[in-house]
This record gives sequence, structure tokens and C-alpha cells, in this order.
Amino acid sequence: MRKQVIAGNWKMNGDSGFITELVNGIIKESTDLNNIDIIFIPPAIYASKVIELTVTSNIAVGLQNVYFESKGAYTGETSTEMAKDIGASHILVGHSERRQYYGETNEWVSKKTSCVLNNSLTPIVCLGESLEQRESGKLEEVLGAQLSEGLFHLSADDFSKVIIAYEPVWAIGTGKTASPEQAQEVHAFIRNLIKEKYGDTVSEKIIIQYGGSVNDKNAKELLGQADIDGALVGGASLKVDGFSAILKEANNL
Ligand code: PGA
Repeated sequence: MRKQVIAGNWKMNGDSGFITELVNGIIKESTDLNNIDIIFIPPAIYASKVIELTVTSNIAVGLQNVYFESKGAYTGETSTEMAKDIGASHILVGHSERRQYYGETNEWVSKKTSCVLNNSLTPIVCLGESLEQRESGKLEEVLGAQLSEGLFHLSADDFSKVIIAYEPVWAIGTGKTASPEQAQEVHAFIRNLIKEKYGDTVSEKIIIQYGGSVNDKNAKELLGQADIDGALVGGASLKVDGFSAILKEANNL
């Protein structure tokens, strides 16, 4: 059975005080949760601090973005090597906000994913369709292209180290979640494309998280679906009670 992986994507939120309280609060609530993997994904500037605060816990820390070059004249960017140097273990790649606001393409996703894997960190690669794409019947085409152009250049060995996060864009930060059935249907579709490309062993192993307005009320049903192996949580990961409740639901499955 695949392990549930729950990640909190804090986006551009928080300050030192808020983050200290959030991390300490969640650590306290999650000490006995041994069946799941937990990842905090803070703003890059606070990542070292979060790593220090979590050092005695089994919570991993990731960054929300990296550039695919290792160093040089790229003002404002952070390299995977730097992320690794401070002790981060996961990197979010191709989040829909990066695709939408910063023009991140499938090609960049492919370069960033390779770079993260080459540095032995774990990429969490986000896929998802907009409402317009879903309503015009393009869901399978969009997800197929995101997978084939962003990830299918990888060897089977490398691909099996990737975490995928399916996040329908229309469900992010909107309070509109995909129904458990809708989400399961898309997760099964994604897993099947992976099976066609890499075979049974890889497709059965790969973690596919769901993201988009996950909260303590809907987590149990979503995470209980056969092909949903965890959640990428935005808004609800900024509250000790809400996020801890999601972690407990996942741990109890
Ligand atoms: P949300 O964000 O939970 O606030 O919808 C999820 C995400 O963007 O990763």
C-alpha cells in the first residue's frame, strides 16, 4: 500500500512569529502520526528557520520553486543546490500559480524536475486543468501534455522518485473542491497514463496527491479514494488545528 504524503504549501504567507507558532503547534499535534509523511513548504526565505524548528521531528521541508541552473547571474532565483545545502528535501515544480503568473511551461517543468532529481531531492510536480479546459472537454489532452512534455523524458527509475500533485486550477483557493469521485476519476486516468508509459510496477508505486481547497471537512473522503495518496494543502495548512486534523485523517486511513 502507498503511504499518504501530506504537504502544506504556505505560498507567500507568514512572518517569523507566525511561522514559529505554526510549526511548533503542528509538531505538538503530530508526534504520534507514524503512518504518513509530512512536508512543510514555506516561503524560501524562511526555509532555514523551518528546518531548524523541525530538526528533531520527522517533518520534511521543501521549497516552492527553484531555477534549473546551479549558479550564476540569475537575479532573484534559488538553485536546487542551495535548497539541498540548507537541508530541504522536496521541491514544488510547476504549481499552477507559477504557470499562470510566471509563464512556467511544461518545458521548464521538465528541466526543473531533472535538475531536482539530479541533486537527489524529491520533486512534487503539479498538474491540473483550468475550468475552461475542463468544460471544453480538454482535460485529458491538457493532463496528457503536462505529463508527456514535463515528465515522460525521465527514466523509469527517476520517474518513480517523483511525487505528482493533481490540482484542478478551478479548485485552488476557491473553496470549490473536486468531488471525491471526480478526483478519483482523474487520478486513475493519470495513473493509467503512467502505466502505459512505465508499466505496472512504477504506476502502482507512484504517489499522486490531490490539491485544491482540501480541508479538515473533506480530507477523509478525498484521501480515502483508491488512487489518492495524499494532499497538497494551501490555505488550510496555515492553521494548526485545520492542518493537524487533515494529518490525523490521513494517518487513520
Ligand atoms: P488551496 O491551495 O488548498 O488553498 O486550494 C492548494 C495549492 O495551491 O497547493
